[in-house]
Amino acid sequence: MPFTILEGNIVQMKVDAVVNAANTSLIAGGGVCGAIFAAAGHEKLQDACDDIGYCATGDAVITKGYALPAKYIIHTAGPIYGQNPKKEAEELYSCYRSSLRLAQKKRLSSVAFPLISTGIYGYPKKEAFHIATRAIRDFLNEHEEMAVYLVLYDRSDRLIEDGRYQEVAQYLACKTREVSPSVAASLWLEEEKSDAAPTASASFAPRKHTSYSAPAPSDASREDSALPPQNALRPADSLDSLLKKKVETFSQMLLRLIDEKGMTDVEVYKRANLDRKHFSKIRKRDYRPKKATVMALIIALRLDLKEAQELLARAGFAFSEACKTDLIIEYFIEHKIYDIFELNETLFAFEQPLLGAS
Ligand code: AR6
Repeated sequence: MPFTILEGNIVQMKVDAVVNAANTSLIAGGGVCGAIFAAAGHEKLQDACDDIGYCATGDAVITKGYALPAKYIIHTAGPIYGQNPKKEAEELYSCYRSSLRLAQKKRLSSVAFPLISTGIYGYPKKEAFHIATRAIRDFLNEHEEMAVYLVLYDRSDRLIEDGRYQEVAQYLACKTREVSPSVAASLWLEEEKSDAAPTASASFAPRKHTSYSAPAPSDASREDSALPPQNALRPADSLDSLLKKKVETFSQMLLRLIDEKGMTDVEVYKRANLDRKHFSKIRKRDYRPKKATVMALIIALRLDLKEAQELLARAGFAFSEACKTDLIIEYFIEHKIYDIFELNETLFAFEQPLLGAS
């Protein structure tokens, strides 16, 4: 399910398939096509393309990846921009849809795209980006098992709407104090940890060290020393079990919110841009999420700022005014824009880490 936008060179992607921005004759060309042919091995790849012979605009065909880290190359022929905008937009959408359908047919689980038609074929990048993200999201809505990457060669292109960019920039300018922007960055990079095994089912069984089957107090002279004490808890046990009774854990709060908002688990992990396996770990009692995961769930559950602060606190985090990512998320919550993909596009535009997907 997850969709990630990143900056990089597509030939280096270790995925099941990379997508080539090809021409209809499947002849090696320039741009990303030239880079893919060079990295895969020109001769072998051209032979394979010659065997196929043709690919209609908006369609997709597949070859092996040869010397690439990717197992396969999906070749799609994008439209040449400038004659018939409506038709070209449909053809461009179709490039993504055909490539993803082909990947699905081949049972591939990860696919990386370049921004098709936006180089030699001249499609304006902002429009092409909008079509690409729409096509990918539409597909992932129906096929949650695939991880899709959109690999942008040049981050300096601003791909979100100017209006949104300026509003967020203004919001940041108003909110930003004289503090170091790196203060909270380390929190985002912390590893996620779960004490429970990934395959175990969600359970609320108490941990061993809080159990009454632990050895009785050491004073053997006491008459009742052979019996488990009913009231006299050891200090550590007592604190632990009290905390468990009094404080709702992160997972408990999450499950409660899902119920209260009337959402299903599937809806939540899709709206959070998380995959199913990751979500099933989150449901476990002892799971300790990354801050980015909590933020993704906040957006998925459409929480207001107060609820968001509470859920973050349950996982040991807080919004930080020193962190651009937090401020951008705050902007989205304040404006009730609960679309994680739109949020991620904005985070990317401001060179911040994305939510979900990791
Ligand atoms: N990784 C990711 N993206 C890249 C890379 C790379 N290594 N190199 C370029 N891009 P283009 P098109 C970006 O021209 O417009 C060929 O000759 C680039 O910045 O590669 O669909 C074919 O054979 C741009 O945003 O493809 C066709 O004849 C995007 O990839 C024709 O060009 C696409 O630019 C296809 O033209």
